Amino acid sequence: MAEFTLPKNSVITEGKTFKAPAHAKNIRRFEVYRWDPDSGENPRVDVYELDMDDCGPMVLDAILKIKNDIDSTLTFRRSCREGVCGSCAMNVNGKNTLACTKAIDAYPGTIKIYPLPHMSVVKDLVPDMTHFYAQYASIKPWIATQTPAPADSERLQSKEDRAKLDGLYECVLCACCSTSCPSYWWNSDRYLGPAVLLQAYRWLADSRDENAGARLDELEDPFKLYRCHTIMNCTDTCPKGLNPAKAIAETKKLMLQRQ
Ligand code: SF4
Ligand code: SF4
Ligand code: FES
Repeated sequence: MAEFTLPKNSVITEGKTFKAPAHAKNIRRFEVYRWDPDSGENPRVDVYELDMDDCGPMVLDAILKIKNDIDSTLTFRRSCREGVCGSCAMNVNGKNTLACTKAIDAYPGTIKIYPLPHMSVVKDLVPDMTHFYAQYASIKPWIATQTPAPADSERLQSKEDRAKLDGLYECVLCACCSTSCPSYWWNSDRYLGPAVLLQAYRWLADSRDENAGARLDELEDPFKLYRCHTIMNCTDTCPKGLNPAKAIAETKKLMLQRQ
């Protein structure tokens, strides 16, 4: 199971408590990690009591309620509220997930909300994704071809070949998996991590791509690929139900097949 560990800026102090309105009958308590680098203060945990009769059903609804009605200083990312953009990834009750696809009712008692673990924090629930995106760019996430395109059609794919991308193309690059992976925590400077490796395999598995040899050459490295020790936190935590550990295993198989 993905366990919560502190983000990279750490000693957490007690924060403020925002009480629910006196008339509220259906109250849930949210503990939310807060850190403002400009304040010079340690991170803290603020407590928000929300009236659930006046709040939407998802964890993201609660965070928006706090931001809009209680404390406008709370900072987080979100865009689609449909589990499609991947930007609302955070750690809820010890597990990385997308706040917009998780129902508040799925959690008993107090809900604890932290940024993705083992990432530098920009502010509050916003992790610094710069290195993660640079790693993603490094695998050249686009089709590379050597043969000329057909004169009168697109590069077509059989239904069977298209089906090989199922379970890969759905990845929204939220980084829930990579930031739950102990190997990535300790070696993220050189290990690509499950999200980027799943994406790398997505292009290896695409029948239209003609660059598999160079892609595998790039991954043939003691750290980029081979730091995966099949701990499976990645697959356990993926909010889209994908299996990055399997994609990594398939990539290792391709490596063996070409020897
Ligand atoms: S594999 Fe899943 S957890 Fe990992 S980045 Fe993609 S959608 Fe997020
Ligand atoms: S299976 Fe590999 S990538 Fe997934 S959590 Fe374990 S070590 Fe990390
Ligand atoms: S807001 Fe887009 S995935 Fe949650």
